[in-house]
Amino acid sequence: MKLKIAVLAGDGIGPEIMEQGVAVMDAVARKFGHDISYQEALCGAHAIDETGDPFPEDTFRICQESDAVLFASVGDPKYDNDPTAKVRPEQGLLAMRKKLGLFANIRPVTTFDCLVHKSPLKDDIVKGADFICIRELTGGMYFGKKQEPAMNASIGTEDALDTNYYSRPEVERILKVAYQYARQRRRHLTVVDKANVLASSRLWRKVAQEMMTDYPDVTTDFMYVDNAAMRMIQEPTFFDVIVTENTFGDILTDEGSCITGSMGLLPSASTGTSTPVFEPIHGSWPQGKGLNIANPLAQILSVAMLYEYFDLKEEGAMIRKAVQASLDANVRTPEIQVAGGAKYGTKEVGAWLVDYINNN
Ligand code: IPM
Ligand code: MN
Repeated sequence: MKLKIAVLAGDGIGPEIMEQGVAVMDAVARKFGHDISYQEALCGAHAIDETGDPFPEDTFRICQESDAVLFASVGDPKYDNDPTAKVRPEQGLLAMRKKLGLFANIRPVTTFDCLVHKSPLKDDIVKGADFICIRELTGGMYFGKKQEPAMNASIGTEDALDTNYYSRPEVERILKVAYQYARQRRRHLTVVDKANVLASSRLWRKVAQEMMTDYPDVTTDFMYVDNAAMRMIQEPTFFDVIVTENTFGDILTDEGSCITGSMGLLPSASTGTSTPVFEPIHGSWPQGKGLNIANPLAQILSVAMLYEYFDLKEEGAMIRKAVQASLDANVRTPEIQVAGGAKYGTKEVGAWLVDYINNN
């Protein structure tokens, strides 16, 4: 297969993990005879420094002209502590999601038997947990009408506003995606909302209750988000497919990473109306930048999801097999290494995987 990939490495540890992601992608392409071309583009703090725009037009064009985007991470501490900054690196990510129409963010939460002890939860609770969270990605509070902090003369103090807006078609299309995933899995969908309080959640629940009759082969249940946050750490094996709005999905998937044991292990795919994007769920971890200690596996597993998106199942499976083998061989970055285990950095883990793929 011929594929054009836009490479957006971004900030912090982004370029380091991206280097390994591309190396693994290339190794698989060579092995299976695919012709892949890469085009790098600016995004995030990096892009602000060079162009003033966190998602420049050029980058947008390159994404549109590609078959898929491989994205790493954006963010920089110089913006984090400045609430008055006019432009922020994260706006680049949000602009990309909106402009590419990426309304469905697929975040699998799986466990590796050899890493269950890395979870802060008890082994027997996490063991076997395997669910996916489908997060709506272009609506809700992230994109609803906003008012930045400003003086409000009528109340004599500052106020600010975010709006949690959803329309019926936005809810319908994400539920459709969720049901498709549920049908390919254990046929259990949990719709997470806050319908006891929020009007937007009542729309979600209304639409889901209508749609569930079209999917009688799938068990649909409804859970309030506060309860879901608790259930996820109490009994993560309960879940198969979760579907939820943008903000709830953001929060729940960080919680989900504690089941797997490291933020550095969770990949994601974002799909919608234009070019799909594959990215780790973690951020740019500025403290780890340049130290060769960041775990490249979330990026590399995002490459597996990319191959699988194009129905290249064996290619995806090859990457998953290589990742499992590296963990079994204790070829691990420091945050998941066993006590007394050899030191492997970002580069060494990537190189080991490339070697494995070449020889297996
Ligand atoms: C994520 C991130 C982003 C989000 C940030 C970086 C804007 O936390 O992809 O989960 O909140 O969506
Ligand atoms: Mn997040």
